[in-house]
Amino acid sequence: MRTGYTFMRAFFLLFVIVGVLCIACAEEAVDSNGSPYTFRKPANFPEAAYTFENNPVTQKGFELGRALFYDPILSADSTIACANCHQQAAAFADPVHTLSRGVMDRSGTRNAPAIQNMAFQRLFFWDGGVKHLDFVPINAITSDVEMAEKIAHVVEKLQRNPSYVTKFNEAYQEPPSSQKMLYALSQFMNLMVSANSRYDHYVRKEGESLTTAELNGLQLFTSKCSSCHATDLFTDGSFRNNGLDATFEKDNGRERITELAEDKGKFKVPSLRNVELTDPYMHDGRFKTLEQVLDHYATGVVNSETLDLILKRDEGFGIPLTIEEKANIILFLKTLTDREFILDKRFSFPANSFTK
Ligand code: HEC
Ligand code: HEC
Repeated sequence: MRTGYTFMRAFFLLFVIVGVLCIACAEEAVDSNGSPYTFRKPANFPEAAYTFENNPVTQKGFELGRALFYDPILSADSTIACANCHQQAAAFADPVHTLSRGVMDRSGTRNAPAIQNMAFQRLFFWDGGVKHLDFVPINAITSDVEMAEKIAHVVEKLQRNPSYVTKFNEAYQEPPSSQKMLYALSQFMNLMVSANSRYDHYVRKEGESLTTAELNGLQLFTSKCSSCHATDLFTDGSFRNNGLDATFEKDNGRERITELAEDKGKFKVPSLRNVELTDPYMHDGRFKTLEQVLDHYATGVVNSETLDLILKRDEGFGIPLTIEEKANIILFLKTLTDREFILDKRFSFPANSFTK
């Protein structure tokens, strides 16, 4: 008995020591020096999808990506930077144009989405046409209606620019190349994690409370919206038809990529984080206000062959909502606004960074 007891005590002690060590080393792995340039997964988020093992974030790599993101050198006529269409004050969406506007005032066909929590996303663009974050800038740079430039020519321009030669050297110990340019842009975008809204502080029990109306909105959202706008990313990453149109001549969405008729008119379920700031809404920016979006779900959903089953009911289409319910859902959606993200100096225009 007695030896059994001692053994158990020793075992328990060992258990505690190992436990404490594990907690210590787990924290160490997440945050070695408290650096603002370390990628951290927020506690309420699912696992990240980005391949960090190939391209870990470093301060120099991040700063290079930041300089590139704000620099019109990436476009054919040096007029358009990524940041023209992706503005921090709008969670890196485009608050000005319904359809994006590129070099020589050329109009694109879609609304520029927010850039936030990209490290957690698996497919990019409204139709999922890009499969890895590292490839997104290739589309933007080479698109005729965006930056209309050639990757090889961008690299040449960067190689002729002493400030970039220094920056690439500091980040990667080599001259400017297309791969390292793409890696640096990904590093910049990967740190764009928005997870400090009032809602986040509420769910993580960090001393924030929501009002009765907001909590009511959250409950309505959970029962009526969260099958598509799922998890704390507020998207399940799927492609769906939410009843905007009966036909899809202008933009057939996901079908463009998969060539499957069943994907006609399906678009990526967008995250709703910072949605208060990312208007206009939907892939073509057709709605200016959240009130219009809620009216769409309540009374505007139109039927088509690929309309999502969740939006089909025996008595009609859409999600029935009273005026008060719509108002409460909107109040809840506004708790997803993350002022820290919008004001975070790490992501702002890098003064004096590329003018030398
Ligand atoms: C002319 C405006 C414009 C410019 C310039 C531009 N973008 Fe975009 N961006 C868009 C539009 C529009 C989309 C959506 C494209 C689609 O769905 O077909 C998009 C999509 C994205 C996405 C995917 C977001 C998601 O949720 O799927 C990322 C990331 C992105 N852009 C980053 C960049 C970077 C980096 C640059 C600079 C190299 C850049 N963009 C330049 C308009 C622009
Ligand atoms: C069947 C899946 C589904 C359901 C249910 C759903 N949504 Fe959506 N939502 C989508 C899709 C898909 C889009 C993008 C459609 C497009 O642009 O073509 C979208 C877009 C939005 C947008 C625009 C976001 C942006 O950045 O443009 C808002 C806001 C929104 N939904 C809110 C809600 C609310 C609130 C509810 C519940 C009342 C809801 N959704 C229910 C699938 C859904």
